[in-house]
Amino acid sequence: MSVKDEIKKLQKEIERHNFLYHSEDNPEISDAEFDALYQRLKSLEAEQGESEDSPTKTVGSKPSKGFEKHQHLKPMLSLSNVFNDEEFKKFEERILKRVNVNKIIFAVEPKFDGIGISLTYEDGILTKAVTRGDGEVGEVVTENIKTIAKIPHSISFNVPKIVELRGEIFFNLDDFNSINRSIEKDGGKVFINPRNAAAGTLRNLDSEVVKKRPLNIFLYALGGFSDDLKIESHKDFLIFLKKNNLPNNDLITFGDAITASNAVKKILDSREALNYEIDGAVVKVNDFNLQEKLGFVSKAPRWAVAWKFPASEKFSKVNDVLFSVGRTGIVTPYATIEPVLISGANISNVTLHNLDELKRLDIKVNDTVLVKRAGDVIPQITKVNQDVRNGSETPVKVPEFCPSCGNKLKEEGPFLRCDAGMNCPAQLFGYFEHFVSRKAMNIDGLGYKINIHLINLGYVKKVADLFKLKQHEAELKNLEGFGEKSIDNLFASIDNARKPKLETLINALGIPEVGETTASSLARHFKEFPKLRSASFEDLMQLDSIGEVVAKNIIEFFKNDPIGIDELLAQIEIENYIASGDSHLDGIKIVITGSFSEFSRDELKDIIKSKGGIPSSSISSNTDYLLYGEKAGSKYKKAIELGVELIDETKIKDFLKI
Ligand code: IVH
Repeated sequence: MSVKDEIKKLQKEIERHNFLYHSEDNPEISDAEFDALYQRLKSLEAEQGESEDSPTKTVGSKPSKGFEKHQHLKPMLSLSNVFNDEEFKKFEERILKRVNVNKIIFAVEPKFDGIGISLTYEDGILTKAVTRGDGEVGEVVTENIKTIAKIPHSISFNVPKIVELRGEIFFNLDDFNSINRSIEKDGGKVFINPRNAAAGTLRNLDSEVVKKRPLNIFLYALGGFSDDLKIESHKDFLIFLKKNNLPNNDLITFGDAITASNAVKKILDSREALNYEIDGAVVKVNDFNLQEKLGFVSKAPRWAVAWKFPASEKFSKVNDVLFSVGRTGIVTPYATIEPVLISGANISNVTLHNLDELKRLDIKVNDTVLVKRAGDVIPQITKVNQDVRNGSETPVKVPEFCPSCGNKLKEEGPFLRCDAGMNCPAQLFGYFEHFVSRKAMNIDGLGYKINIHLINLGYVKKVADLFKLKQHEAELKNLEGFGEKSIDNLFASIDNARKPKLETLINALGIPEVGETTASSLARHFKEFPKLRSASFEDLMQLDSIGEVVAKNIIEFFKNDPIGIDELLAQIEIENYIASGDSHLDGIKIVITGSFSEFSRDELKDIIKSKGGIPSSSISSNTDYLLYGEKAGSKYKKAIELGVELIDETKIKDFLKI
């Protein structure tokens, strides 16, 4: 292929990947692979001369339909990359050639792997939040952005006529994992990575869905602004952010090139400990005067560079694709792979989520696959390397029958389901594990090993059997590895659990989507188990905290009775919900912020719950009260804007009646 043809091919390919990444939120290749294609194109273009319409000259992809469009005051640009000290040194040399200084102070901060956003404040009021789009024109997503409680709706320090603030929207890793868990439970399509989740959420047209997902943001640069804004350096810009309670990231270092290079390495070292994904560091010239002198080259500034980190992904081989059965009967495919060490963890099993994902990846046994893991995100297969297939690959056999109990499986959308309930050992095991766990019935002395024995020996066929274990006392005490004492302790713990509180039992029942908080709300509302059991869909929808999906799950759970409720009820005595004598906060939604001299925030939450209140983490127009202490930040501001009633520490005891 001639160089010209290769350039054309690469341009087309990169444009397609740009579109998949920016507009479809559905990348086919990893960032590292994209960077490799991009670098190749750049170097060929450097030899042959660039064309104006090359993707190396344009940013991102055209905005999609559905949201109003807005032209940025200043385009949202990209950054050129360096990958090592040598390239960074060249970057500094290029700068020194252009400006007449002998030392440059850089600012170094993480490069957040999220979605670029531009917030516009006009006369101090947040008027617009716009995605990057094609760099010139983006999509207006203000309503969705306003669900992020830490973004102030107004600012009051050094307020200019207009200012665009640039930043990154992302999910914390733990939030990303719980969003995916709940989508999975709901039978939906999970997000491939936190970045896609942020993109999909930010551009979701239903802001009710967005409200339920805790998007996060860091601001890191100025866009366009009016002349009345006097900020002279990146350092000053950070002060501007801080004084205005605008969210910024604290992992920032200022210094010369050597300090900058060390700071990059420090960020790389801390990467795995962070609760968000980063894919490098950004090194910026601190002085805005110098920045202006340096200006831009095509689509990137000369005064900043992205120092990209090696991707935390590795190739491995698929040994097999197997199917596991969860407690709700969903049968999930997973790949067993040649073990690979990625960011400190040895990975040998990777979930494939559902049948759609099998199809999307077009994965076969013996395939070479790219495995990615970052922080505590569960490992993912991001790509099958089809180019190295050699004919030894065999298609995945999707089972017709449950791998645990042999029952015929049903396809429900992208999911396979075994509906044998507690007759299926895998479901019984999963269910039993949940039922006895600390936040459910809290039975000490049970764990993976003994649970397997109890189920395999047939002592536990339904959860009610847990309370009849005494009849197997002699056999249990003879089990290898379980001393007499530990079995006695187990019996004591089981006896202690015979009088569960209503909320504990509801949580233990394991109704899909009904966790601790919903269980508490249900207990408070229905007070007695029979009332909950006979509640209609409409009754359940009376509760603020319950939506249609959860209401349906509850109705179906009691109708289908997968666990043998009557047998369980015969073994236990449920303690009705007692509104702790004092239920004056019944159903009241309370947010806590700042620090208090007499209480920890957890203590306050417990007190609120004990009096029927609902502690919640983010402020919205549904919030009834904000309890605030020292250093209350953006939640306090937001509460004022929304007219939420405020309680300071001097009034807390009166308010809580303690
Ligand atoms: S400064 C003129 N700082 O990375 C561009 N960008 O690949 C100034 N990004 O477009 C950008 N973290 O969306 C900057 N700490 C950070 C960043 C950051 C992530 C994004 C940003 C940019 C892209 C370039």
